[in-house]
Amino acid sequence: MEKSKEMIIAEVISQEQIAPGVHDLKLAAEAIAIKAVPGQFVNVYLDTDGKLLPRPISICEADEKTGVLRLVYRVAGKGTEILSGKKPGESVRLLGPLGNGFPLEGQNAFLIGGGIGIPPMLELAKRFPGDVQIVLGYADKNLFLAEELGEYGPVYVSTDDGSRGTPGNVIDAIRANDLKADVIYACGPKPMLRSLKEYAARHEMECYLSMEERMACGVGACLGCVCETTETDAHSNVKNKRVCKDGPVFRAEEIQL
Ligand SMILES: Cc1cc2nc3c(=O)[nH]c(=O)nc-3n(C[C@H](O)[C@H](O)[C@H](O)COP(=O)(O)OP(=O)(O)OC[C@H]3O[C@@H](n4cnc5c(N)ncnc54)[C@H](O)[C@@H]3O)c2cc1C
Ligand code: FES
Repeated sequence: MEKSKEMIIAEVISQEQIAPGVHDLKLAAEAIAIKAVPGQFVNVYLDTDGKLLPRPISICEADEKTGVLRLVYRVAGKGTEILSGKKPGESVRLLGPLGNGFPLEGQNAFLIGGGIGIPPMLELAKRFPGDVQIVLGYADKNLFLAEELGEYGPVYVSTDDGSRGTPGNVIDAIRANDLKADVIYACGPKPMLRSLKEYAARHEMECYLSMEERMACGVGACLGCVCETTETDAHSNVKNKRVCKDGPVFRAEEIQL
């Protein structure tokens, strides 16, 4: 059964830059933190007059005991720029938790994050019931969250420029380290997800991918975020699904990439 979402005003506890342009924001957001599951996201409202659409950001950590919600995001444009200026004691309006989240199934999983797709892997690593091998793809030597993820399983890194770990992408790191698993959980840029879908099919692995599309309402009402699917959707009667409501996590076979 879907757990209800909340609109709340969350106070900023701390905010720091953990890599160039990448911010780590901790918020007092108990009503959301106690319900969230790994892979869900929140909509962050950044203005008071409602002119700016809310910005979807994945839940990096949700501590049900302390009520702290952690978001790790890259400054990309106006909305995330405003967010990066929020100081402790200031507040932001949040709606969440939104979306479906990752199913926590499998004995031995690859948790794979590419770039700013890495943050949701942290809460997933904490809650995954089986063994995990964590594969992280970065552009360059400016790693973030790798050390923390290392508390939950071995971490393998790839970098586009070869300055850390395996030169190339996350599949190069899997091959270079001769890694094996029975299920893939991944979040990252579309080309990475496309390659992982092919890799999973070739190796007959279960594969769950977290998709990113531009969003407006974030709650399934506007159809602004649809992605193409392999089967006809019962809700829309066409071959697509809403990333915000039906996803963002999909079984790889379900979606066209
Ligand atoms: C489910 C989901 C989870 C996400 N999780 C994270 C995260 O954990 N960390 C992180 O850094 N980023 C994440 N993103 C991307 C983040 O939402 C965008 O970077 C952000 O909305 C950009 O807003 P902006 O105003 O700074 O940039 P602008 O480019 O000025 O945004 C203009 C408009 O485009 C939309 N937009 C721009 N880029 C994206 C994008 N990549 N995806 C969706 N909408 C976009 C914005 O919401 C806004 O409506 C996530 C996106 C989705 C859909
Ligand atoms: S953003 Fe409106 S339906 Fe997904």
